[in-house]
Amino acid sequence: MRKMAAVLLASTAAVLCGCHAYQRGEVSQPVPRPSAVLDFATLYGQNCAACHGPDGANGPATDLANPEYLALVDDAGLRKWIGGGMPGTQMPAFAKSSGGMLTDAQVNAIIAGMRKRWSRPGALEGAQPPPYAQTQTGDAKRGAQTYQARCAVCHKQTRDEITNPVYLALVSDQALRTMMIAGSPDIGQPDWRHDSADGKPATPLTDQDINDIIAYLDGLRNASPGFAGTAAEPQSGAPAR
Ligand code: HEC
Ligand code: HEC
Repeated sequence: MRKMAAVLLASTAAVLCGCHAYQRGEVSQPVPRPSAVLDFATLYGQNCAACHGPDGANGPATDLANPEYLALVDDAGLRKWIGGGMPGTQMPAFAKSSGGMLTDAQVNAIIAGMRKRWSRPGALEGAQPPPYAQTQTGDAKRGAQTYQARCAVCHKQTRDEITNPVYLALVSDQALRTMMIAGSPDIGQPDWRHDSADGKPATPLTDQDINDIIAYLDGLRNASPGFAGTAAEPQSGAPAR
């Protein structure tokens, strides 16, 4: 929940300060056309860092520098969310074809840069994580039990907000799924293997467990008339600069 509150702050910040601060005296430098910029550090810094952290982690949104995440998701998946935005979350659409500011070449440069900087070869070698994309609908009743058994142990009291419709209204099923499978090293969310801190092997979450938990959380999201349908529309346009 801390993360979500921070996303809202960062999205405001991105709008207010997404602009590049030009220093006086620098005006004689020719400024490249924005669409000509293909440098990863520049593109990432200007468009993504406010929400995903300066180095892909420790920001309010998904830990993109998580090697398990990058091993799990393919380029088409990344292109879909970066280009088209992530409905139901604050993740904006960046591709010009979706109303954003970046060319396809720039989106591809960002994806290549993410992989070059943050992938770790063999990050999931030998492991069999559940698939990145959901292929089957889960069972909400069973999901409630699985949530109690597998999540509530950490997400109780102050962290109970995961089951809060206000939180769920701002997070997509895929974002929840990503979080459960790849984990989020920057905040201490375990990956699907749920390795216990004492080194004893834990029981990994199955695809079915994850589908069930999502069905359960979906039910909570939709059961609240005050919040139904308020999930953020996919935003068009990159943050103003
Ligand atoms: C070993 C402890 C642990 C377990 C087990 C665990 N989590 Fe977490 N989870 C965390 C921590 C720590 C955070 C970061 C807390 C925060 O952001 O306030 C977190 C954050 C999250 C977030 C992000 C919240 C946000 O603010 O964006 C989601 C979603 C989440 N967990 C879902 C789950 C689900 C679903 C399960 C069960 C499958 C689960 N977690 C099991 C420790 C755990
Ligand atoms: C205004 C905040 C914001 C900005 C700016 C932003 N993102 Fe996101 N992004 C989010 C949020 C929120 C999510 C949904 C997951 C979550 O709740 O953490 C997300 C999700 C994603 C996902 C999908 C994660 C998954 O589950 O597979 C990718 C990939 C991503 N962002 C990449 C980028 C890149 C690359 C940029 C810059 C071009 C960028 N984002 C800019 C907020 C932002």
